[in-house]
Amino acid sequence: MSDVRVIQPFRGPARGLARIPGSKSVTNRALILAALADGETILEGALFSRDTRILVAALQELGFSVDADESACRIKLVGLGGRIPKAKAKLHVGNAGTAARFLTAFLCLHPSGDYEIDGDAAMRTRPMAGLLRALESAGAKCLTPGGSPADSFPLRLITCGLVSGEVSCDASSSSQMLSALLMVAPLASGFSVRLSGTTVSEPFVEMTAKMCAHFGRPLIQSHGAWICSQPGAYRTPCIYAIEPDATAASYFIALPAVTGKESRVRLAGYDVSGLQGDTAFATVARACGASLHEETGALIAHSWTALRGGDFNFNAFSDTFLTVAALAPLFDKPVTLRGIGHTRHQETDRVLAMATELERLGVRVEPSAQSLRIDQSLDTLTIHPGREAMLAASRKAPVAIHTYEDHRVAMSFGILGSYNLHGNGQPWISIQDPACTGKTFPHFFEALEQLRGSFLRIAVDGGAASGKSSTSRAVAAAHGLMHVDTGAHYRSITRALLSASATPDNTRSVIAALPTLQLGTKITGHSAQLTLSGWVPMAAELRSPEVNAAVSRFAAMSEVRHFLFEYQRSQVSVAQAAGFSGIIMEGRDIGSVIMPDAEVRIFLEADVDARTARRAAEGQSDAVLSRDQQDASRITAPMVCADGATRIDNTSLSLLEVVEKVGLLIAQARS
Ligand code: CDP
Ligand code: CDP
Repeated sequence: MSDVRVIQPFRGPARGLARIPGSKSVTNRALILAALADGETILEGALFSRDTRILVAALQELGFSVDADESACRIKLVGLGGRIPKAKAKLHVGNAGTAARFLTAFLCLHPSGDYEIDGDAAMRTRPMAGLLRALESAGAKCLTPGGSPADSFPLRLITCGLVSGEVSCDASSSSQMLSALLMVAPLASGFSVRLSGTTVSEPFVEMTAKMCAHFGRPLIQSHGAWICSQPGAYRTPCIYAIEPDATAASYFIALPAVTGKESRVRLAGYDVSGLQGDTAFATVARACGASLHEETGALIAHSWTALRGGDFNFNAFSDTFLTVAALAPLFDKPVTLRGIGHTRHQETDRVLAMATELERLGVRVEPSAQSLRIDQSLDTLTIHPGREAMLAASRKAPVAIHTYEDHRVAMSFGILGSYNLHGNGQPWISIQDPACTGKTFPHFFEALEQLRGSFLRIAVDGGAASGKSSTSRAVAAAHGLMHVDTGAHYRSITRALLSASATPDNTRSVIAALPTLQLGTKITGHSAQLTLSGWVPMAAELRSPEVNAAVSRFAAMSEVRHFLFEYQRSQVSVAQAAGFSGIIMEGRDIGSVIMPDAEVRIFLEADVDARTARRAAEGQSDAVLSRDQQDASRITAPMVCADGATRIDNTSLSLLEVVEKVGLLIAQARS
């Protein structure tokens, strides 16, 4: 049963942090490589979606130890250096192309395996023959359940380990077949892979080769064939960070095209020159009018400066053609998309799906959906401007977009539907079966919603070791906010003043030293840190016994507080400019002095014994109570629970429980 989601157009700018999941392609490759490595690998930032769950479940079914912590996006896997524990298994790969192809080649490493693999109806029609022929030439038997030679799922694989020699693979219909062979190549000595026919999606093959090298087995191309010059088990990098999904990112690069002026969306962890070929989408988007700013470890997508049509070849990053196709009716001139013929054999016939749904909105496409149905060889699509037609088609009710169990169709039309076409916020597009985004982006629509909210300010105050930093960090990560630890500001200044031989007893020494300090901000992940002359002081320096002893005394000086006042207030603009949907700032005077008008104000408390024990558990000796007394009794900006702030005593609450309580306050403030 498919339900329907009506898309509410954005009436204001899109703002905030786009919560993009890890890359599916990188996660599933990393799972295979980690299983083939010798020892334990931890995958950080892994995607948890239907396709990766299928591969995780298959590896578990085969006897591997795979520990998946979904809330932390972390997977721990113990690789066995090429050994597969179970010689017999029945596996189901759903409609997951990577799992299907990678596992098929992977299983062939077993010296005496007998495996049954099947997929769902769509997967049974997807190309496998090129890979199966290559594996047969390396010794495997790839049969239908009835025992005749198989071209597709369902399959019975009788394996005998991969014999050495050259295999040739026709991967023209899917580069995943070539990637599948490349990943097992180092495990079979003298094994080489030659590509017959042309390849599609070269960047995915490059991604595979780069990841094999990262896991210690570089592959090279020699006389047109891929070989591993030093075969053997992969080496575990111990911890492997999965990049955010570049295709998923394309929707948030596209969103500011339709949400108007002042839009600013932050894509954390996105690297235009990363592993994924789909980062090339940024180039097309720029050509069409996107305004993108690269920062270290993030990309900021601003309102587009134009909506320009053009002619683009998507062959190397075809998963993103749907994103542009959905926006195209809003462009000033027609958009021609080339090199997309192979996407007609993916989750669905994507070219036909986009043509059909655009026509449903009244938009003219060439070739028409009907011509595409007749001629399977058509591999180009031109989309004409269609604003008026879409207005007419959706005047009475939202047009229901069919999604064909294809997550990318659902997400790309979700972005188009965010456009305020009727000018009055009237919804005009609904998406059938929105849950199909679960394939790669289970929380896509929630991520879209998060960019709608107005900017939120949260002030957190409390005594030493009351949990301010840990709570604020976790809240920032959960709600897409920028975290500012003002205690660290006072600690940085204290360290710098001590280095300049200034002392709290000698006000003049402080007044002389302060103007020499050049303050700046460095954003890493969700955290904004104070820089002094461009440098972030090291954490250990900020918590040294000397700094612990002096910080509250310097912090009591009005000169020091005034010096930091404007800087701390300016962090709100820094967070806005960086595209966060809000800020959470913690300290002693945030709710009373720095952000007295914050939408959420919290005062954290805990027993002094519990707090002292917490610091001791961190290996620090810190006179918690005496610092509290100094902070609460000073004249300038003493530590107080500001009027109207919510007190949370966390003596016997876990961090998670506190974060949940703050979540409720945020929900209240946002509603
Ligand atoms: O982590 P802990 O609670 O021990 O301290 P912190 O947050 O790192 O702050 C260190 C010191 O800076 C505090 O004891 C205060 O004296 C001072 N501080 C302040 O006066 N006002 C703030 N907004 C933050 C910190
Ligand atoms: O920033 P602040 O000095 O207020 O405290 P913190 O550094 O966030 O927390 C001090 C210690 O208390 C950390 O080791 C936290 O893990 C721990 N903590 C806890 O055990 N339970 C809480 N509800 C909050 C923090």
